[in-house]
Amino acid sequence: MATAYILAFLLPHVLMTWTSALPSNESTPLTFKAAVYEHIPFMARYTRSGYTRKQALELMNKNLAVYRNQTVEAKRQGAQIIVFPEDGIYGLAQSRRSILPYLEKIPDPDTIQWSPCTDPYRFPNTEVQQALSCMAKESKIYLVANMGDLVPCLKYQDPKCPSEGRYQYNTDVAYGPDGRLLAKYHKRHLFYEYQFDTPEAKVVSFDTPFGRIGMMTCFDILFKDPAVPMVRDHNITTIAFPTAWFDGLPLLTAMGFQSAFARGQGINLLAANIHLPRRKFHGSGIYTPKGVSNFYYDNNPDSPGKLLVSTIQKVNNPSEEIEKENNFRKTNNQQTHSDEFHSLVFKDMFTFRLVTGSSGNVNVCQGKVCCSLNYKISITQGDLSLKTDIFALGAFDGLHKYKGQHYDQVCTLLKCADINNKSSCGSPTIYSFTKFESLSLTGSFETNYVYPEMIFTDEFGQLKMAECGMSTKDCSWTFNNKSMHASGPFMDTALLSATLFGRDYSRDGNGFQG
Ligand SMILES: *[C@@H]1O[C@H](CO)[C@@H](O)[C@H](O)[C@H]1NC(C)=O
Ligand SMILES: *[C@@H]1O[C@H](CO)[C@@H](O)[C@H](O)[C@H]1NC(C)=O
Ligand SMILES: *[C@@H]1O[C@H](CO)[C@@H](O)[C@H](O)[C@H]1NC(C)=O
Ligand SMILES: *[C@@H]1O[C@H](CO)[C@@H](O)[C@H](O)[C@H]1NC(C)=O
Ligand SMILES: *[C@@H]1O[C@H](CO)[C@@H](O)[C@H](O)[C@H]1NC(C)=O
Repeated sequence: MATAYILAFLLPHVLMTWTSALPSNESTPLTFKAAVYEHIPFMARYTRSGYTRKQALELMNKNLAVYRNQTVEAKRQGAQIIVFPEDGIYGLAQSRRSILPYLEKIPDPDTIQWSPCTDPYRFPNTEVQQALSCMAKESKIYLVANMGDLVPCLKYQDPKCPSEGRYQYNTDVAYGPDGRLLAKYHKRHLFYEYQFDTPEAKVVSFDTPFGRIGMMTCFDILFKDPAVPMVRDHNITTIAFPTAWFDGLPLLTAMGFQSAFARGQGINLLAANIHLPRRKFHGSGIYTPKGVSNFYYDNNPDSPGKLLVSTIQKVNNPSEEIEKENNFRKTNNQQTHSDEFHSLVFKDMFTFRLVTGSSGNVNVCQGKVCCSLNYKISITQGDLSLKTDIFALGAFDGLHKYKGQHYDQVCTLLKCADINNKSSCGSPTIYSFTKFESLSLTGSFETNYVYPEMIFTDEFGQLKMAECGMSTKDCSWTFNNKSMHASGPFMDTALLSATLFGRDYSRDGNGFQG
């Protein structure tokens, strides 16, 4: 009785405060429904002579038929935008020559207004564009997909023009609910894609009733341009992210790094991966500044593709932490400990200390990075997990040079692959039985670009993310001031790793970027 009375008294106040905190007359809705599709691409068989345009179209039409069905289904579930993966239409690994029949000339939407669906014969050889445009139009939905763009050039006008007289670009295209081509984006940071050319970095976006949507592709997310300016200087608060992401355990898994970027930057990221579990391409999600709204991860070899749909909030302002004057923390904890050891994480030599016992504090430093962990392993799990698992806290401060060059400052708590072998700390593993009741991870970094990721796993070695509703309160862990704190309901799932992944873009240098 008393409780009911108090609630009845309090609720109207709470509601009033809440509504009055909203922007007074936003014509835009505060939430929207987004979809991403993790797709198993039909791929070309190798032939010495390569495919004709007809054969290439037959293959691409198989992929487009799946896209069409998923678009209809996404719309049925109320989605307003759908994102498809990188390489989803023509498949992986083509040579510069063999990919040619898959490419189309995509007009520049900045200068040409065109709906391929309603005006299909305006430009020749645009079957893929017509199919995508018609899907968007039929389902009245914003649609982002990845395809190949062919841009002719003349050597005497453009000294950089390749000898064949054309540029070939890995390209994201966006269509509006009326089928109109809204924007095209050329992937900047290629990952061993010799079939494509590298363009200048450019921020590309399109406007919707639920905010400005930017586009970037896969490896782009690790580098400054255009990822950082698009959020910082162009009012982009949702990024459509087609990707073909190899699940780089432990720190660069698809869901781990993508969710971390969304949280660190304070934006929505709609990430659609291809699904090829035998080759370790998997992991898609709808990520928000407050946590993971929805994800798909299935490493079983015969698992299906998957449509994810969820309602998320329109972000009005990205994270302000990044804009702050760098509050580089001086820790007086720089001493080295006799029990430190070194072990490789994705070819980088980290400094580690083992995390032993069921609770406590651990500190470890490397260079200017000092990491500090406070943790408590759940009592019911403690005995079992200490027999099966060993964790280590690692620090790294340096230029990563393997498969792309980027300057990283990292603090990570991770499960070592082999309990009897310290050198396995940092090697890929998908198994853990250890549940933490609470943990806090903080670090000193010389950059404000700190991306937090926390990865869980179940007894079958299927990675899990803590799914959050619209409010941080529902989340198992929080991130602020370059620190992560976990204690919420998801902590009854075994932890694989918790990481603060700092990026100092200013020290990347001009070296090879993949
Ligand atoms: C807000 O929008 C409503 C409905 O469009 C309008 O009646 C009202 O005057 C607007 N208020 C302000 C403060 O603009
Ligand atoms: C598309 O959906 C229809 C109806 O559910 C189904 O018969 C067809 O096989 C689907 N096609 C593809 C390519 O998924
Ligand atoms: C971003 O939004 C601000 C405030 O609404 C506006 O002043 C600015 O011109 C916008 N910038 C761009 C690049 O659209
Ligand atoms: C320990 O792990 C490392 C890294 O995985 C591996 O190279 C090494 O062979 C392992 N040593 C033993 C004794 O298993
Ligand atoms: C952020 O963390 C640092 C180091 O732990 C601390 O000195 C500072 O007071 C914190 N700032 C806020 C706003 O919590």
